Amino acid sequence: MINCELECGNVHFHDVGQGESLLLVHGFPLDHSMWRHQLNSLSQHFRLIVPDLAGFGRSVRYTEIESTQTFAEDLIELLDYLDLARVHFCGLSMGGYIGWQFWKHHSDRLDRLIACNTRAAADSETVARGRRVTAQTVRNEGVQKLADEMVKKLFAPANQTQKSGEVSQIHNVILETNPETIVQSLLAMAARPDATPWLEQIEHPVLFVAGTEDQITPADEMKENAERVKSSQFALLPDSGHLSPLENPDAFNEAILSFLNK
Ligand code: MLT
Repeated sequence: MINCELECGNVHFHDVGQGESLLLVHGFPLDHSMWRHQLNSLSQHFRLIVPDLAGFGRSVRYTEIESTQTFAEDLIELLDYLDLARVHFCGLSMGGYIGWQFWKHHSDRLDRLIACNTRAAADSETVARGRRVTAQTVRNEGVQKLADEMVKKLFAPANQTQKSGEVSQIHNVILETNPETIVQSLLAMAARPDATPWLEQIEHPVLFVAGTEDQITPADEMKENAERVKSSQFALLPDSGHLSPLENPDAFNEAILSFLNK
């Protein structure tokens, strides 16, 4: 397996394997490493493109994050650079919000969509206000408080101890994330559009992946969203919180392979 680490402008990404292209888009405030249990297994069937979104991980950001669409446009630039006409798009949580934007603005570049542990609805006013308060805290005090609070919510309660290595790795990733990227992403998520009305217009096949223990995106809400899409599948993974690719990688990889007919 050749795992190339490359740069496209300011976007750092991994390019692994051969076959149909599968783009793996991380959640907030993480980086490509949340897909580490997918690299070996899925690259035997696909060409995996695994970026650090601009501003996260090793990718620098020189322009403002105006909205979740900004990230979708960055990814289109990456596909153009790689000369890829279409990809399967797999996004987790914030990566899923970007996936709806990718469908909305570039549906001709999309093959199949995989929406992991993600919502279609916009933030309520209360949630949006909470994000603006968090953004102010990060600006004033740094990332520590956010990192401590987020890891408690990202993993299933049992995995806090059973997968403590994964928990501390994710904690470190958050601590190392650029605070300004965190602030701008929080504000972009708070202002993102409601994608719920888009769901019934989507003609592409969509797989929804949920975790039984997800404290951030309840599985029932994801199931309702799956029922709104014409051609959809719904996979509910046991022993998994919000980070299903990390918490239950075997079940996650199996769900992806089955949806993509491998
Ligand atoms: C994520 O995992 O990307 C975040 O939980 C998304 C969010 O805060 O809505």
